[in-house]
Amino acid sequence: MGLSPGTPPLLLRALACEPVERVPVWVMRQAGRYLPEYRELRSQVDDFMDLVRRPELCCTLALQPIRRYDLDAAILFSDILTVPDALGCGVHFVAGEGPRLRRRIEDGASLARLDAFDPARLDYVYEAVERIRSALPDSVALIGFSGSPWTLAAYMVEGGGSSDFARLRALLYQQPDTLRELTGILAGAVREYLLAQRDAGAQALQLFDTWGGLLPGHLWRELSLRPACEAVRGLDVPVILFTKGGGLWLEDMRDAGFGALGIDWTCDLADARRRLGEGVALQGNLDPLALRAAPGLLREEVGRILDAHPGPGHIFNLGHGITPATDPEALAVVVDAVRSRAVT
Ligand code: CP3
Repeated sequence: MGLSPGTPPLLLRALACEPVERVPVWVMRQAGRYLPEYRELRSQVDDFMDLVRRPELCCTLALQPIRRYDLDAAILFSDILTVPDALGCGVHFVAGEGPRLRRRIEDGASLARLDAFDPARLDYVYEAVERIRSALPDSVALIGFSGSPWTLAAYMVEGGGSSDFARLRALLYQQPDTLRELTGILAGAVREYLLAQRDAGAQALQLFDTWGGLLPGHLWRELSLRPACEAVRGLDVPVILFTKGGGLWLEDMRDAGFGALGIDWTCDLADARRRLGEGVALQGNLDPLALRAAPGLLREEVGRILDAHPGPGHIFNLGHGITPATDPEALAVVVDAVRSRAVT
């Protein structure tokens, strides 16, 4: 629609900080439990991993939010825990409890027992990428993703989700070498995983460093940023680094070579742009809980973010994933509010 042949999708132009007619919009976790059509498919399997391992279902799920809303990007339907699963950790989901790993990392011996990473074990993910890309119109970009090495290490040490990741944070000081080695192994695995997603048709990639913000700055540089850089070295597609709680370290991320940064809702976008200067794309950053507001206030909140960063180099998104209790209509309000504002 209005896209002349050869014009790259809006999302890719925004990621390259090129001129855009409006700010593109997509939403982290846009395919998920807040959508009744997701819950319908989800109810057909017990373990969430049984959805993730079926490319045809992943394709249907990735397209659900695209059908419902005028979004500028689809994200691969999968999960970050596919990589620990391929390393032999036995990832499964227990109803009402979230992810569980049958084998967790507690010392050097458990590290030695990990399987060598074989990217072919995740062929089902690359097949999902291929299917989704061929089902999408050219104007909608496809984003592939991985957990960052640090965030994957967090789940592998903890053995699942956690409210405070205390086991992981103690291990930082008890056995720093175990975490250095683990994040190194993961950097190599994530790199191969992302390359295969790119080869299958992903046009941009996002690294979810969901738990980077747990770390003191010096350890974040060593155990989160450094392996993340290694994981994306030489990738010739745009990479978005989303470090939740990473607002203090945006300059380090830019200086490390990341061309696009996901910004959580605690950080002011105008400040972020002032600090970083031009040349790095910023993605974000509406508080996901703002979608519980009445439509009028919700529109105002979207307007506030577009005022903070009106121009090129901005990709509108939430500051973290959309929550399961969100009314699907609220996302329609957000998307409409973004799309109805031209870049001046
Ligand atoms: O539209 C999309 O973004 C869908 C693809 C996607 C999922 N997970 C599907 C999913 C993506 C990009 C993820 C990333 C992911 N997975 C992250 C990083 C993103 C973030 O939020 O910071 C993390 C930390 C995970 C690990 C994970 N997966 C957890 C902790 C959980 C359970 C917690 C919860 O929200 O229930 C999941 C499950 C999961 N991944 C669901 C979906 C749709 C819900 C599963 C269900 O229906 O039971």
